[in-house]
Amino acid sequence: MKISVIGCGYLGATHAACMADLGHEVIGIDVDPTKVAKLNAGEVPFYEPGLDEVLARALASGRLSFTTSWDDVANFADIHFLCVGTPQKLGSYAADLQYVDSAIAALAPLLTRPALVIGKSTVPAGTAQRLAEYLEHHAPVGAQARLAWNPEFLREGFAVEDTVRPDRLVYGVSDDESAALLAQVYAPVTVHGMPVIVTNPATAELVKVAANSFLATKISFINAMAEICEVAGGDVAVLADAIGHDTRIGRRFLNAGVGFGGGCLPKDIRAFQARVGELGVSHAIDFLDDIDAINLRRRQKVVDLALAAVGGTFAEKTIAVLGAAFKPDSDDVRDSPALDIAASISNAGAHVRVYDPKAMANAALRFPKLEYAPTIEIAVAGSDVVLHLTEWQEFRSVDPATLTPLVRNAHVIDGRLCLDATAWRAAGWTYEALGRPTA
Ligand code: UDX
Repeated sequence: MKISVIGCGYLGATHAACMADLGHEVIGIDVDPTKVAKLNAGEVPFYEPGLDEVLARALASGRLSFTTSWDDVANFADIHFLCVGTPQKLGSYAADLQYVDSAIAALAPLLTRPALVIGKSTVPAGTAQRLAEYLEHHAPVGAQARLAWNPEFLREGFAVEDTVRPDRLVYGVSDDESAALLAQVYAPVTVHGMPVIVTNPATAELVKVAANSFLATKISFINAMAEICEVAGGDVAVLADAIGHDTRIGRRFLNAGVGFGGGCLPKDIRAFQARVGELGVSHAIDFLDDIDAINLRRRQKVVDLALAAVGGTFAEKTIAVLGAAFKPDSDDVRDSPALDIAASISNAGAHVRVYDPKAMANAALRFPKLEYAPTIEIAVAGSDVVLHLTEWQEFRSVDPATLTPLVRNAHVIDGRLCLDATAWRAAGWTYEALGRPTA
């Protein structure tokens, strides 16, 4: 099938490459000519394990290209996947739909033959309905420019796997023809037998924000338990294992620590609250305020622990921060707990040195004031406390004994609860972790 992918960020670039790799003919469009040039040259503009191979294969097949031209897109494709970002609006909880709206405004007048636009971006409930009406009024082909919603659930770091082997597919459609087209597009994926849910567009939009709200709730639940463990003498990691054995609860997404960040969970729960407020039922998800607050409190807790570890003042102190990405196997620093903590401590007067295996360039763009070290060893040299804030394998497998002679004070705060406490203590470190006073 001939498809376009509108917006070539983490979602769109992955979707375009995977769809072409699965046999479709794909054109990707992005407003950023540098990104388009890189993608056409086989270079992934961000870090995503495995995507470079899929992109190379898809480009070599001749079924994939990238452009900045809307005419190219409209001439080439009959199916258009909308994959642009919907960040949090400045000064508000609501989602900023400017990229969605401008993409539809650019595409609509060029739709002179029947087309299906498939929204994948995370949007407030009701957006699909509004865009469907817009298309009908502004596309020369009128009502034959249809719209469906097909939310994505991909996790950074597993983007390729989640695209070609998703847990489920959700088709939010208003007519059978659109459902049939979606089934055809995803035939190479559904051949593996995952569940397909066909529903209306509003449900499809809600599925995505409900899923992310649930995940955020799960993480904040265990982080609330961590707060209690800290004062009651419990160990939240053991508690998570124990409750996680109950299959009704499940162990996944119960890792306590500095909490959730990234380009999705934080802004999605806020946009959900904003939209539900507009719909007049904000009380239904008032609890998401607490989920957000618990999450942010964990960041402050690390700052407090670090301050205590260095004797109550950050002046003249060097703090080593291991991790800048919002999670491992990603170079994404959007709303990263690690960087947020690093910046707070730097603003409080400490000298902060950050090391991350992949995210330092992005981090430096956002927080140029922090110092960035090229290795773990250089990051920790002469430091008064080491903060472990993103659980890269490199940090989990470092031999703490090699770091002990480098630091001024061997004190580590494990914000991700996955360093080997026994090994660090044996190497002479004071080991502290969120929610594990007895670990
Ligand atoms: C998320 C959803 O998982 C995905 O389905 C959706 O499409 C986009 O948003 P992503 O943002 O890539 O994906 O990251 P995810 O793996 O969900 O992690 C989100 C944040 O939660 C990270 O900062 C991570 O470190 C944190 N997290 C995750 C925890 O603190 N504890 C956990 O147990 C799991």
